[in-house]
Order: sequence, then structure tokens, then C-alpha cells
Amino acid sequence: MKILVTGGLGFIGSHTVVELQNKGFDVVIIDNLSNSSESVLKGIVAITGKEPQFEKLDLREKASVQTFFKKHNDVSSVIHFAASKAVGESVKNPLLYYENNIASLIYLLQELQEKTEAHFIFSSSCTVYGQADEMPIDESAPIKPAMSPYGNTKQIGEEIISDVAKMSSINAILLRYFNPIGSHPSAEIGELPIGVPQNLVPFITQTGIGLRKELMVYGNDYPTVDGTCIRDYIHVVDLAKAHVVALERLLENKNEDKVEIFNLGTGIGSSVLEVISSFEKVSGKPFPYKIVDRREGDVTMAYASTDKANTILGWKTASSLDQAMESAWNWEQKIRKNNFQ
Ligand code: UD1
Repeated sequence: MKILVTGGLGFIGSHTVVELQNKGFDVVIIDNLSNSSESVLKGIVAITGKEPQFEKLDLREKASVQTFFKKHNDVSSVIHFAASKAVGESVKNPLLYYENNIASLIYLLQELQEKTEAHFIFSSSCTVYGQADEMPIDESAPIKPAMSPYGNTKQIGEEIISDVAKMSSINAILLRYFNPIGSHPSAEIGELPIGVPQNLVPFITQTGIGLRKELMVYGNDYPTVDGTCIRDYIHVVDLAKAHVVALERLLENKNEDKVEIFNLGTGIGSSVLEVISSFEKVSGKPFPYKIVDRREGDVTMAYASTDKANTILGWKTASSLDQAMESAWNWEQKIRKNNFQ
């Protein structure tokens, strides 16, 4: 069984390829290397002993997508990660985001809807809930107006998939991620942010290693336990495993609807200061930060209800925040030592 993983050399994609190969699936990766590196293949081989097929291809090129599916006509299951994900950049260049995240999705679905049976797993985000009214957030929480073009592409993507699944042979699972962090425990693969990281954990580890002077904590006047924002940080390996479980559900025709939705988080909310203190614990040193103004667009609190994923998918997270932070820190130390970037 050959599975197409788009964006398979990226952060979550590469960890999912590892879990798929560990379960015996054959994988073909499409990646345009815009936010990843071909050297990630080496890490995947080091962990699994097996090299996935790789096609360097840009999914915005419709003709290339068509050619790919002619060549790999046995592919009818897709896990679709390839997308741009920087919120600020999406505000500055919305058409880049609509083209990259939406056009590529359409071209993939156009190919899949021709199949007699097809399976599609979509990387969505808890960003679709905006500031949810109730915690923890379950899948029935209302979708709020998107705060950025990036967030909008996730909402529109979900709608496109639902519309297409209704009238085609495609069965789909939409996975709404909370905050993925960490790296594979082997430190062979991990997150490789380009430039100054916008996300909390890579900024923390880069500060820990001395690349950045200090972390700006965006606001300590939120109505939370210590005034800083609350998020649900999930270990990327736990997240990757959920994709394999979701894929198996579709392959075994166990899905109850043409389109199913699952939140993927730990169910535990952690404040920014709690994440810092976890990092201090695993790195064994004090961490430099200062409190600054709130960041525009940040919600106060978001953590997942894990009930649906636990009971219906039969999937549970295994790693704690400390374990996830430790893996992120190990990875940061390794890439700097090896001068990876
Ligand atoms: C962000 C995006 C979200 C996207 C996700 C992808 C925003 C508003 N949201 O989520 O749509 O799906 O990334 O990974 O951009 N923080 C600091 N200092 C920093 C960086 C972050 O204090 O230098 C705080 C933030 O205020 C937030 C928490 O850390 O409370 C997590 O931030 P981040 O890692 O950027 O994730 P989200 O904002 O939750």
C-alpha cells in the first residue's frame, strides 16, 4: 500500500513518514523544499532503515500533479501537509497563501476524485475555533471568523474537502492540531524553522543555545493562572501517530461519515511561563525572557477535548510537556553541533 505524503520532508510530515514506515507502509513524498531540506531523508532512513520515494514537485503546478498521478497510479491515499503556515506572512501576502494552500489542495482532489476509492487526511488547525467560548474545545465548538489568511485557508480547505467528499469516492479525515512541538527522540529529525522562529518552542530552544538573546513573552495580563496565554502543546511524535491511526481507519472503512473531524491535543493547557519553566528543568539552566505587549491576534486560551480522538480513533498522547521540551532541546543541540543549517 503506497501512501502519498505531501510536505513529507517538513516538521510534522517527516515524523509521520517515520511512523508510516514503522507500520510497514510504502511512502512517496512530494515536497517543494520551500521550507524543508532534502537532507531530512537521511534522518528518516537513519530511524527506519528505509528510504521513502521522493519527488521534488510544486503542487501549485497542475500539470506536474497530473504527471505525478499518472506515474504513481497506485496512489489513492494522501496525507496532505504541504502548505504555508506563517500567520504574519499570510497577512502580508494573502495571495501566496491562497495559491499555495488552496490551489494545491484543489489539484490533489481533482486527481483523487477520479479514483474508485480514495482516502484523504488533511492538516487543519485549532485556529479554526478562534477564541472558543468553552474549554476544553471539542469538535462541535463553532468555527469563528478567521483572524488571518492562513487561518482562512484552513477553514476553506475543510469546506472544499467536505463538498468534494459528498459527491465523490473520497473519504476524508480533518485533523485539527493544537500546538505541535518537540522532535523524534533519536534527534535524527525535528523542526527546522527558517529565519527567526515565530513559534514559541523553537524560539526558546534557539535562545537556550545562544542564537537569540532573550524571549519576548507576549503579554502577562491575560485572565489566566499567571497572566500568560494558555496553549495545548503536543509532542510531534504523538501527533504523527494519530495520522497513521486515522489512515488505518479510512483504509479499513471504519469511518462513520464521509468526512470526520478530530482535535489532536493533549487536553492539558500550559501557560507560556510553564513552558519556560519546563525548558529550565530539562536544560538545567535559567532562561532569559522579558514581558512585552500582547501579540495581535493571539487568543487567550486554547486546549483540546481529547474525548473524541481517544474513544473513536483509539489514540492517546504518551508524552508529557517535559518530554516534548527535552526532545526539542536535544534536537536543537544536535543541529547546532553538526552545523545542520
Ligand atoms: C500559531 C498561530 C496558529 C498556527 C500555529 C502554527 C498565531 C496567532 N497563531 O499558534 O494560527 O496554527 O502557530 O504553529 O500566530 N509566544 C511568546 N513569544 C514568542 C512566541 C510565542 O510569548 O516569541 C507565545 C504566544 O503569545 C502564544 C504561545 O507563545 O501564547 C504560543 O505561540 P505560537 O507558538 O506562535 O503558537 P500559536 O500562537 O498558538
